[in-house]
Amino acid sequence: TSKEPVLIFLFGATGDLARRKLYSALYRLYTRDQEFAVIGLARRAHTDESFRDLINDSLPSEAGQRKHFLARFYYKRLDITRPESFATLKKFSDELDTRYQLHGNRIFYLSLAPCYFAEAAKNLKKAGISATPGWKRLIIEKPFGHNLESSKELNESLLHAFKEDEIYRIDHYLGKEMVQNIEVLRFANPIFEAIWNRRYISNVQITLSETLGVGDRANYYDQTGALLDMVQNHIMQLLTLVAMEPPTRLETNDVRYEKVKVLKAIRPMNINNIVEQIVRGQYARGITPEREKLPAYIDENNISSDSETETFVAARFLIDNYRWQGVPFYIRTGKRMAKKSTQIVIQFKKLPKNPYFHNINHVGPNLLVIYISPDEGLSLKLNVKENGNAGNTVPISLKFRNSELAMENMQDAYERLMADCINGDSTNFTRWDEVAYSWEIVDSIVDSWKKRRVPVDYYEAGSMGPNSADELLEKNGHHWWPIM
Ligand code: BG6
Repeated sequence: TSKEPVLIFLFGATGDLARRKLYSALYRLYTRDQEFAVIGLARRAHTDESFRDLINDSLPSEAGQRKHFLARFYYKRLDITRPESFATLKKFSDELDTRYQLHGNRIFYLSLAPCYFAEAAKNLKKAGISATPGWKRLIIEKPFGHNLESSKELNESLLHAFKEDEIYRIDHYLGKEMVQNIEVLRFANPIFEAIWNRRYISNVQITLSETLGVGDRANYYDQTGALLDMVQNHIMQLLTLVAMEPPTRLETNDVRYEKVKVLKAIRPMNINNIVEQIVRGQYARGITPEREKLPAYIDENNISSDSETETFVAARFLIDNYRWQGVPFYIRTGKRMAKKSTQIVIQFKKLPKNPYFHNINHVGPNLLVIYISPDEGLSLKLNVKENGNAGNTVPISLKFRNSELAMENMQDAYERLMADCINGDSTNFTRWDEVAYSWEIVDSIVDSWKKRRVPVDYYEAGSMGPNSADELLEKNGHHWWPIM
């Protein structure tokens, strides 16, 4: 892949995401010979030196090339709402272009609250910063609006300054190794390709569970909730990767086109089916496995005691197309659950009754489990003959796990996605119509919840969610497979 030099404008440079993820991702790109300079932008006062100190603190301790790396970072104080501060930025960025020979290539990374996106884009254009002889790309993070309408508005305002193919909407799940592996697993293995449909698959279970609570993001989270925070984006993306048809070619728009087709086929919720199809939960007091006390959501800092925000969602989605008719896609996600884990289970159908086995009723189904995090790998559960005991079966598991060493050397999600953006590959970013169709589904849920006044179901912090999440599957004769 080409490694074109680039000037990165990092808005929100002193923020949480930049410190937790972006600086270490840039560091690793630097050690892989990526040429760049960065202008850090934020409201606070900083000198280049104090800014570099802040970056230095977020680098891994073994980072040996930090001195040269840090020298490429510059800080400019900026008030996004004031066009004047963009005029000085223009001059400085042209200087850096020349000094580092960056050919006018520019990435604008808006690591900001979305309410500033439109203004930032507008002022970048007004100051002439986005008119550059090289290429320009805009990176934004969710939430893209809070419903379809607001996300349309946001999108239109961005389109004044950037074209759709210059907008890179990050969903960091799409940068994860095992998420990128789903397509390969499905389309490079005939044994799966042949049976990946309603005839052989009983149901699919997608779990994104977290142990942390709302932490210090009360303001954001209490207005957002698990449905908008996790389902609208990450879960919808995972579901489409499992369900989509093989793309004609592995080209950006071919892949995105297939994903959109899945999103269009997901059956929207309405006031009649909402209660049966989806569970909204909130954590109550609980304990960790180590018996430490965990507070209820409403007792967390800056959360009001009558908050009805959901911290957990479980749902049964149905996909109305030929391949998936009748196959439930169960999803669940929540804060303060028993384990931090992301995994997908594909449960295959049972064989018809077979007199050959005495214990046919105890023969478990074949399961394919895709471990996304914290472990990365796969397992395939099969039935084999019990040793010495003709007619009896025992389950075995074929396992593949990325070794720890491989994981250490592996790029992380942000590093991969930054590299893709620099290379102009937007396959693993979400196109506008994907965002819009996800909002349609999510809006149908929010709307039905409101109309039916669906209350939250409480679950103990440190558990796997409310009982209603189990009942959701029991109705179909299914149950959640444990997190492994
Ligand atoms: C983010 C959500 O998008 O994903 C957070 O806003 C959540 O609430 C996070 O904690 C989970 O990401 P990961 O990579 O830790 O599973």
